[in-house]
Amino acid sequence: MKIKSFFIAAFLCLTVATVPAAGTNTLALIPWPQKLTIGAGVFKLTPDTHVYVDLASRETGNCLSARLRPSTGYSLATRTQVFSSKAVKGCILLTTRDASTNLGAEGYDLVVTPGSVVIRAPTQAGLFYGVQTLFQLLPPEIFSSNVVRGVDWQMPCVQIQDWPRFKWRGLMLDVSRHFFNKSEVETVLDAMALHKLNVFHWHLTDDQGWRIEIKKYPRLTRIGAWRPSVGFGFAPNSTTAYRPDGDYGGFYTPADIHEVVKYAAARHITVVPEIEMPGHSTAALEAYPQFSCTGGPFAMPLTGGIFNGIYNPANEETFKFLDDVLTEVFQLFPDKYIHLGGDEVPKETWKNSPACQALMKQEGLTNEDQLQGWFMRRMEKFVSAHGRTMIGWSEILQGGLASNAVVMDWIGGAKEAASAGHDVVMSPTACCYLDFYQSTHRATEPRAATWGGALTLRKVYSFDPMPANLPSQLQSHILGTQGNLWTEWVPNLEHAEYMIFPRECAIAEITWSSESSHNWGDFMRRLQIHVQRLDELGINYRRASRQTLEPN
Ligand code: ACM
Repeated sequence: MKIKSFFIAAFLCLTVATVPAAGTNTLALIPWPQKLTIGAGVFKLTPDTHVYVDLASRETGNCLSARLRPSTGYSLATRTQVFSSKAVKGCILLTTRDASTNLGAEGYDLVVTPGSVVIRAPTQAGLFYGVQTLFQLLPPEIFSSNVVRGVDWQMPCVQIQDWPRFKWRGLMLDVSRHFFNKSEVETVLDAMALHKLNVFHWHLTDDQGWRIEIKKYPRLTRIGAWRPSVGFGFAPNSTTAYRPDGDYGGFYTPADIHEVVKYAAARHITVVPEIEMPGHSTAALEAYPQFSCTGGPFAMPLTGGIFNGIYNPANEETFKFLDDVLTEVFQLFPDKYIHLGGDEVPKETWKNSPACQALMKQEGLTNEDQLQGWFMRRMEKFVSAHGRTMIGWSEILQGGLASNAVVMDWIGGAKEAASAGHDVVMSPTACCYLDFYQSTHRATEPRAATWGGALTLRKVYSFDPMPANLPSQLQSHILGTQGNLWTEWVPNLEHAEYMIFPRECAIAEITWSSESSHNWGDFMRRLQIHVQRLDELGINYRRASRQTLEPN
């Protein structure tokens, strides 16, 4: 018997040794892990499989069991293992005990053998990501919301050590041009979690709509959250975001925001709210024109573009208003970063305003760019004084900036910002703008933003978030990358999903996986299986048949 076991073991070792590395195996993990070894055999999930957890990991264990239930029909019991961190025969163990601290704040070890599954991580975020990988080791039907019969719920034996390349792996959703309700936002968060994405940038205010209820200024949502129609040339029935009187729009109450933030936190996703200033503020100024330079009136535009809804920095009351708004924002959003926009400010209004010109003279500012710098620095001080960190688009670099502000590079500035000590999030238009066409064959695509070129899946995948030639001592300033979905041309969730996926799958891989593992051919191979997961989840991604139209 012993001799027989020896030969079986020797055969298995041989099998392990001859399994090819990533690129030709049958695993379809997205994002691809840092280190993976394939073993022989499989672990089979059965109705008797238990989920063991240490005391700290009960919630993550419950999340695993809950996710496995609808498709398998198994109600896996969760048991707490207090004194040991050893694998349990026939079971899945999630534990923080004896985890390698080298894995960092988001890393995990995952070992699947025929006898057990163990996910070990120093943090719950790491365990959560290990669980996401576990789901992807199972057949794609695991994501079905109904019981699927005739599927072997088994996963291949593997040993995985994994951690992200970047700490900022994000998605921006513009809810101003099109309003997505709370449950739609939660759908987006679920899809992010599947891809180990961890920053949801919520673009809450812009010219075309103000989406966050502020108790002290009720007109912001009474007036600023509703426009006469969906606009942008869309057929009225392209969206459902209407109230009974036919006005288009919507907003989030503090309770909605609380729920979304909690929902995101349970998926280890940070929510970064964006409150635009000093430009892109027509909706706010339609509600409160006294904080503008001209006094109004303003009307929310029904088209895209740059509009003159811009705050008046020469009026102290403007800052009182903005400070009050942010005070409520701080209460609703517990995380570190607060995005204040700062992009595309039309400066003509300030040029033509005697009060603004007098302020510039008084402050020794020689042009309106400097006035914008003065404005953003003042707001940055307020944000910092409340223990938060301000983020803004590229233009916040104009006119000087406190070094702890973070720059979101959309039109350049990353190197300059990192050299000046700022952290940077990369979201250059050419590689990260998910509102751009996905193909050069525009006629085959739904209407998208025309001002950019085509942003193909391959182009996103080819993007290296680390700017070329950035000196190594500055590289830690590059926090990561995000895809940005502006919604001028996106009137509903189904269409948003079409624009986000599969391009955001590529963002997930370039932000998580090591640069050396990036391999377009292998990514496309894995994507063919990954989209079966998206199918099960009912996510409306852009189909592969269209992708094949792309020239390489
Ligand atoms: C931007 O696209 N205006 C940041």
